[in-house]
Amino acid sequence: MEDNKLQELAPAPLAPLSVGGGRESIHVFAPATVANVVCGFDVLGFAVDEPGDEVIMRLTGKPGITISKITGDDGRLPLDPAKNTVSVSVQHYLQSVGRSDIGLDIELHKKMPIGSGLGSSSASTVAGLFAIKTLLGDDADPINLLPFAMKGEEMACGHGHADNVAPALFGGFVLIRSYEPLDVVRLPHPKNLWCAIVFPDVDVPTREARQIIRKNIQMKDAVTQWGNIAGLVSGLFMQDIDLIGRSMKDVLVEPVRSMLIPDFYKMREMAMELGAVSFGISGSGPSVFAFTKDEATARTITQKLQQHLTALKIGSNSYVSTINDAGPKVLG
Ligand code: HSE
Repeated sequence: MEDNKLQELAPAPLAPLSVGGGRESIHVFAPATVANVVCGFDVLGFAVDEPGDEVIMRLTGKPGITISKITGDDGRLPLDPAKNTVSVSVQHYLQSVGRSDIGLDIELHKKMPIGSGLGSSSASTVAGLFAIKTLLGDDADPINLLPFAMKGEEMACGHGHADNVAPALFGGFVLIRSYEPLDVVRLPHPKNLWCAIVFPDVDVPTREARQIIRKNIQMKDAVTQWGNIAGLVSGLFMQDIDLIGRSMKDVLVEPVRSMLIPDFYKMREMAMELGAVSFGISGSGPSVFAFTKDEATARTITQKLQQHLTALKIGSNSYVSTINDAGPKVLG
């Protein structure tokens, strides 16, 4: 997808595909993502360099999809291909290109916690879709995969939002301008924007984190929110990190979801005092993230927040990265 180009998505008939493109198997990585970006609930997201999930897909020569192995999930994900978001999305894709006859085996290697707010299911689904697309030699624009990835999200949490799957698929910073019709815009971003992520080891399933948010909002809150979204998008275009920082405020969702995150406001205070540009919930949580202007500040923030969580007897992981513009990549 070209930078900044508005795309209206319609299911496009794809060219006839060969099988394998000379390969029998493929190993793909797809990145974790930070959805919402504080003020843009369901409409903004970006990809990071790490963590990410990996899929190894093999042609079997026998029609149907199997899942032979899942690692890193503590046994929580189904091996049944009818119940796993990766295989279901891949199956929808194969049907759409008229290749349900193909036989595939999938290995899924989870490299990030499930229910972390880092787009765990999206990374797996996108890795699977990118793997089958590449294996079939389908050189259509990856944007064609987005509706299939959204089906995976719908299965994972009951709602087919695109703010994790779109940045996982395209890399970079993405705006979902509209869902009906689907219209996705890739946004520029300052190259020196660093992201510090801390995952406090408590489970916050997206499905439940969506159920607790308010169904109706006040006009004055809506005005505040759309001012902030416009400010954030302007800051991204203008490479104005201070404008980005002061726009990342959420009066709609964060006040409710922050209750699910241990010491959220204390962690925010600490991150801002340590030099963060902004701080908020990653996706539906419990991961939190801060933008910073340099790597050293990002590393100090993750270290101090993790020490704080340890003192509260809460385990944690952390990741420091710039924004990942590459999206999925073939590892072998
Ligand atoms: N926009 C979604 C939500 C992202 O906040 O529920 C979930 O990762």
